[in-house]
Amino acid sequence: MIAIGCDHGGLDIKNAVIEYLKENNISFTDFGCDRAESVDYPVYAYQVAKAVSSGKADRGIICCGTGIGVSMVANKVKGIRAAVVSDAFCAEMTRRHNDANILCMGGRVIDEPTAVKLADVFLNTEYEGGRHAKRVQMITDIENGNFEIKD
Ligand code: RB5
Repeated sequence: MIAIGCDHGGLDIKNAVIEYLKENNISFTDFGCDRAESVDYPVYAYQVAKAVSSGKADRGIICCGTGIGVSMVANKVKGIRAAVVSDAFCAEMTRRHNDANILCMGGRVIDEPTAVKLADVFLNTEYEGGRHAKRVQMITDIENGNFEIKD
């Protein structure tokens, strides 16, 4: 299941991604918002991040004006590796190398077809593990207060 959410700045690209999810029979939960009036992005980003962090959702997609605010919120939640992405190369690499579990995009940065393309790449690219596993583990260690720089 994919958790998805947005604020007013990301509503149009979120709706485009939802159409893609429906067309491809990908199950999802939409945490809102659902209208163009101004709302506070942390409310929606937090709900998506909690769904992923708890394991209720496999991955998340969050959209705001830039993708930045929602990524800041999501990355405060334990277990979340949220990446702001605006091109297909980074959408692929953040899965392959960072094992990103939330894709963040900006409705004032990219258009709807691009958002759909990036969601498709993000959802269909596997994590490579290998040499990247040690580095992703370091992120987790920092999150848990267990990271030490060894001389
Ligand atoms: C809302 O105006 C805007 O600040 C928000 O969508 C987002 O871009 C924040 O990072």
